[in-house]
Amino acid sequence: MIKTNALRIGAFLIAAAAVIIWSCNNGSNASVLAPMPADKPLLPRADTNAIPAGKYGEMVRYGRALMMNTAYYIGPEGVSGKYLGNRMNCTNCHQDAGTKPFSFNLMLSHAQYPQYRAREGKVLTLAERVNNCVTRPHNGKPLPLDSREMVAFLSYFRWINSFVTQDRSYKGGHNLDITFPAVAASPERGKALYQQHCARCHGPEGAGQASGLTYVYPPLWGPYGYQPGSSMHRVIKQAQWLKANMPYDKATWEKPFLTDEEALDIAAYVNDDSIHPRPDVKNYDYPYKEEKAIDYDKGPFADTFSARQHKYGPFQPIISYWENKCLKAVY
Ligand code: HEC
Ligand code: HEC
Repeated sequence: MIKTNALRIGAFLIAAAAVIIWSCNNGSNASVLAPMPADKPLLPRADTNAIPAGKYGEMVRYGRALMMNTAYYIGPEGVSGKYLGNRMNCTNCHQDAGTKPFSFNLMLSHAQYPQYRAREGKVLTLAERVNNCVTRPHNGKPLPLDSREMVAFLSYFRWINSFVTQDRSYKGGHNLDITFPAVAASPERGKALYQQHCARCHGPEGAGQASGLTYVYPPLWGPYGYQPGSSMHRVIKQAQWLKANMPYDKATWEKPFLTDEEALDIAAYVNDDSIHPRPDVKNYDYPYKEEKAIDYDKGPFADTFSARQHKYGPFQPIISYWENKCLKAVY
């Protein structure tokens, strides 16, 4: 009996290995590796009228207020504590307080943590992940894990998570896909496009437009923008987000305004540290170099491409390099 089971398991393993080799040999095209299910529903709206009464509801409401008016509560002059190093709000990137599809949406997050994170090379709780954004894009110091503010963020994330079903994926939970041009993204072309499409709100020097304790239009670089260690500083990541969300008054995920190439060029310009210095913080990220996102521009790299190519592309050769090793490039 034991023998038969062992044989069966053995046969299964051989079959499984054959499937892996077979699919890898057929995997030179990324779309073969990751088919898009056609029936993915769009993320539902989180109905703010449905926030429950009582103590938990109070925390959900405060969490939502923190997402929207982060600088007011916990900014450099925050009324609840001085944690952030700049006056941006979480909702500047996680639009509609983390509920807008294709805008670094946070509705699925609560159920997906603790989670292994390659950037830190360890398993993080959702609270620790919140602090990554407090310290990096907001250039601040971490919220104490038992603070009222952290509990409010987590309560809010649990509440927005209650509108989705855990065992399925949604349209809008991840970024919009972009196709990669054969040429590298160009900060020079990006500069002209930026002046044409972005400067009217974010200013010709990317400084944004301040208003009281925060901004009407947040800064894109300079001492009060996000840090180089932020995911927004990665050219592919930002380009995907820009495609669905900017210019603010023109783009929607259903009808993007920028072409993929324009979004990459603009992201290259915004994130070019040689023209746009940012708060200089040394983050020792990705302890395992083979887990690095391909658009993360600090070496050492596990592949043969230069730091410049990791930053600006062309990205397709990097993606193919990893696929030829039967591995999916992360970005
Ligand atoms: C400059 C833009 C920016 C700002 C401001 C920002 N974030 Fe983020 N945040 C990101 C990006 C980019 C990611 C990664 C998204 C991805 O990989 O698709 C992220 C990821 C997260 C995640 C993890 C989501 C997941 O499911 O893995 C959480 C939670 C989060 N942010 C919370 C916050 C909170 C709370 C604030 C305000 C204190 C904030 N963020 C401010 C850009 C920003
Ligand atoms: C009509 C004004 C307007 C235009 C034009 C515009 N933006 Fe924005 N942008 C905003 C607003 C408002 C936000 C904050 C969104 C929110 O809080 O919901 C924002 C947020 C951002 C953010 C995330 C927060 C930050 O400061 O890092 C980036 C990046 C960004 N815009 C880039 C661009 C780029 C690049 C362009 C040109 C393609 C552009 N925007 C055009 C109004 C604009």
